[in-house]
Amino acid sequence: MTQSKSRVKKKDLLEDESIIEEIDYELEDIEGLGRVTAEKLRRTGIFSPRDLAAASVQEVAEAIGSEERAKSIISNAQKLVMRGKLFITAKEYYEQRLRVKRISTGCNALDELLEGGIETQAITEFIGEFGAGKTQICHQLSVMVQLPEDEGGLEGKAAYIDTEGTFRPERVVQIIKHRFPDKTPESFLDNIIYARAYNSDHQMLILNELKKRIESENIKLVVVDSLVSHFRAEYPGRENLAPRQQKLNRHVHQLLRMAAVYDLAVVVTNQVIAAPDVFFGNPLRPAGGNVVAHGCTYRIWLKKGKEGKRIARIIDSPKHAEREVVFYISEAGIVDL
Ligand SMILES: Nc1ncnc2c1ncn2[C@@H]1O[C@H](COP(=O)(O)OP(=O)(O)O)[C@@H](O)[C@H]1O
Ligand SMILES: [Mg+2]
Repeated sequence: MTQSKSRVKKKDLLEDESIIEEIDYELEDIEGLGRVTAEKLRRTGIFSPRDLAAASVQEVAEAIGSEERAKSIISNAQKLVMRGKLFITAKEYYEQRLRVKRISTGCNALDELLEGGIETQAITEFIGEFGAGKTQICHQLSVMVQLPEDEGGLEGKAAYIDTEGTFRPERVVQIIKHRFPDKTPESFLDNIIYARAYNSDHQMLILNELKKRIESENIKLVVVDSLVSHFRAEYPGRENLAPRQQKLNRHVHQLLRMAAVYDLAVVVTNQVIAAPDVFFGNPLRPAGGNVVAHGCTYRIWLKKGKEGKRIARIIDSPKHAEREVVFYISEAGIVDL
């Protein structure tokens, strides 16, 4: 297929051997996997052997209707993609990590907190109550990703999945006018592809459709603002918790895979909800439970301070020290004091 051919050309970009190996193969190349099954998998968002190799048995079984077969084709996909290689050395892994790129947030304090900006091959989650600045950060990153690398961007496009209807192109224009008075705002707007998601199924469908355009459009940032709200609204109460979390898990893993396979940054926002069982400490917790907590690579908690001040704190990071920085929201977007 032409799509996978074009990926091969990006070898220098995707040096990672395991990624390159997947590049040459289609789902149909996997042993014991025919057209019909491949179609079923594609419908649930599993497009490549690498997708399948990283999928859970349960997810695949749901798609094809047999757990036995799910196990067998996942195992065959893993053989194809990784040539049975379960281990790499820490040095190989370190070299992979060095290829991770960053998008500057356009705010020194936040960049410092994130050690240079938001990473590709990861999901960065911004958590906070209403008005904390989550959507503002998403607007700003949609601009920043388009800048050349030496100005903090990745010279790529942004895809903005809006579940709450709060994206405002005029706000993007305002940010550009204040930050980059010599650039034309219209060209930036052309490089943000936008989709309004009306429910959780629609949100997942948009993600599947997006996959097909990532390479041809050179998308380097995918925003989901906000990640969990539809799922929460559609599956209320304890009795719906299991199916909701299952579905949300699938969505989060699709985002993670997308970030890894296409070397792009994923940014999601999340609300906070009251935790009725907390007696000491913070009575609020991020929505989405363990599925989101474990799925997102970096979690940043935003709080409103006095006089427009915002406090950002990184939580649960595998490598960042837990600390806080201060930023502000102005006409120019997210700014330092
Ligand atoms: N053009 C602007 N100039 C200055 N501040 C703004 C502007 N637009 C929004 N803000 C600030 O951003 C806040 C909303 O942040 P937002 O990102 O929408 O919050 P949420 O976390 O709910 O997504 C507003 O309360 C306001 O303080
Ligand atoms: Mg918002």
